[in-house]
Amino acid sequence: MNLNENEFQFSDKNFQYLKQKVFQLTGINLSDSKTALVYSRISRLLRQNHFNDFDEYCNYLEQHEPKAEREFINAITTNFTSFMREEHHFEYLQEVLLPEIIERNRLKKRIRIWSAGCSTGEEPYSISFVVNDVLKDIQDWDVKILATDIDSDALLTAENGLYKDKDVEQISASYLKRKARYFDLYDSQTKTYSINNQFRKIIYFKYFNLMCKEGWPMQGPFDIIFCRNVMIYFDRFSQNQIINTFCNLLAVKGYLILGHSESVPSSIQNKLKYVDRTIYQRVQ
Ligand SMILES: C[S@@+](CC[C@H](N)C(=O)[O-])C[C@H]1O[C@@H](n2cnc3c(N)ncnc32)[C@H](O)[C@@H]1O
Repeated sequence: MNLNENEFQFSDKNFQYLKQKVFQLTGINLSDSKTALVYSRISRLLRQNHFNDFDEYCNYLEQHEPKAEREFINAITTNFTSFMREEHHFEYLQEVLLPEIIERNRLKKRIRIWSAGCSTGEEPYSISFVVNDVLKDIQDWDVKILATDIDSDALLTAENGLYKDKDVEQISASYLKRKARYFDLYDSQTKTYSINNQFRKIIYFKYFNLMCKEGWPMQGPFDIIFCRNVMIYFDRFSQNQIINTFCNLLAVKGYLILGHSESVPSSIQNKLKYVDRTIYQRVQ
């Protein structure tokens, strides 16, 4: 496909180069139908860095400058997320998973949760809302939520914890009634809310690439790992490798929660038992 009618020359060769580059850097496996998406997301970087065409941009990227690679990753990733997205998981967390984990961990009073691919923060903050609602004596517990992503811009937004009213108000009525508990009004003119400190302070945001080959720095064991709507973009081989590693990092009887359109491959189902809609439990 040649998008010559567009602002920048963009050849098939350019697309194939960017496609293999994004795969190499992030594990994201773009299909050949994503030409227009790549053009629209990357042309912004050409404008910003004053390149004349995609040939120039690809040469620049080939120099492996960390800044260039970071900008490329941030531009190409899909960050769509929302508070209480796939709400069923948060109801199940509240009604089944947390009561069970609290009972199991009541002597050590420690809970570890990982939001892998946390994007702009709505997922780990939603987890924190539920954990704080369920664990009434949270001040006596050692609770940590690790929140990681490969997109440094998304992580910055997550750490800032500022959201527009339209993002806050799309949550369902049962959670919206606790809006004043979860959020503080930050700026009435721009209708911006900030996450209340009680819900921020148990979250640790970190840059982490799930395709990292050098061994993962986190020790575990995690009681729950959320990795939702992230591996959908990876090939089967990478999905299997990552899910196996998640499994090793989970406590026995710990839970892995995937996105509603994702699943654990059958080859790993002897280790991870299906318990509810895209929720799996480590069995051994
Ligand atoms: C669609 S968002 C999902 C956000 C959230 N988990 C949810 O379900 O709403 C996918 C996120 O995965 C991140 N991601 C993609 N490839 C990644 C990788 N190799 N390592 C870590 N995060 C990655 C993207 O940057 C993006 O923020």
